[in-house]
Amino acid sequence: FNLSDYNTMGIAAKARYFCSVQSVGELQSLLADSRFQDTPRFMIGGGSNVLFISDFKGLVIHVDIKGVSIDREDEGEVILNVGAGENWHELVVHCVEKGWGGIENLSLIPGSVGAAPIQNIGAYGVELEEVFESLEAVEIKTGELKSFSKKECRFGYRDSVFKNELKGLFVITGVKLRLQKSPKVNTSYRALSEKLEEKGIKNPSIKDISEAVIEIRQSKLPDPAEIGNTGSFFKNPVITKKQFEELQSAYPDIPSYPAGEKVKVPAAWLIDQCGWKGKRFGDAGVHKMQALVIVNYGNATGEEIWNLAQKIQVSVKDRFGVFLAPEVNIVS
Ligand code: EPU
Repeated sequence: FNLSDYNTMGIAAKARYFCSVQSVGELQSLLADSRFQDTPRFMIGGGSNVLFISDFKGLVIHVDIKGVSIDREDEGEVILNVGAGENWHELVVHCVEKGWGGIENLSLIPGSVGAAPIQNIGAYGVELEEVFESLEAVEIKTGELKSFSKKECRFGYRDSVFKNELKGLFVITGVKLRLQKSPKVNTSYRALSEKLEEKGIKNPSIKDISEAVIEIRQSKLPDPAEIGNTGSFFKNPVITKKQFEELQSAYPDIPSYPAGEKVKVPAAWLIDQCGWKGKRFGDAGVHKMQALVIVNYGNATGEEIWNLAQKIQVSVKDRFGVFLAPEVNIVS
């Protein structure tokens, strides 16, 4: 089965078996199927955060569970129940239209709702955890449906328990979000406040925020429908204050964000300084507007993309002494 339509990088890797499930029941029957008990399994949602670096000699399960419904609401809030297979951006548009605030800053992030908690998606000053209520997931080993509170998900920067202790053990089937009916907007991210200013908007509505974010993203992030990519390929590294001060004395204009006791540095800047922006090797390249995005111009293999990523890691490490951890899931 060719996976190229199921990963936004557009890698033509093959899966030995593939199955799409539309309900929790279908997923449970598939997991219990005696034919697949000894087969490695991999779950895929929108495929916007995976890089297949070889064929997958197992079963790929596409989670296609749909549905958006109100779990409960009062004058101030609405708790939404969303199927893991819903498209994230379509959900954002739906909520903005209804006037429910909280995820407008997360407009245009590719991928599915079920994938969003795994890496605690974030952009323009907001992270998923701020609106997250709980999720339901099926345990692969037992087929049991379990609920996870926000605390149990142990969210961090582009991180959760599902990327650590519970990696590969659960399939997320539904997510509950807590949204506000009289939303307070978040314009703390510089690029966003500048965009609103440029548009002459003083008291932005959630719709204004969503539109501004869409404009910024479209101006520097490639549309996966046109050029294969998985958004940011690496996480922004978090380093000690001491290491940052050393870097700053050598590179006075290095940008940074506070991260508790530590300092977060934009990986895009480090990669850009090493001269990678716009470079192309065959069909694998570094996007010309955002150095953190690796792109597939057409027929790059996962291995070619991964080779380029590793060269970038080595050059950043040599020059700045900083290790760039991939943000995408590398699958072989
Ligand atoms: N920069 C460069 N060269 C570039 C691009 C950026 O030097 O080619 C520098 C600039 O100084 C800029 C700074 O890097 O001020 C930060 O750039 P940007 O605002 O574009 O954000 P980012 O840190 O590169 C992060 C997220 C994005 C998210 C944006 C906006 C990560 C790994 N990436 O990128 O998330 O959309 O902030 O909030 O945290 C994703 O996760 O897939 C993703 C796209």
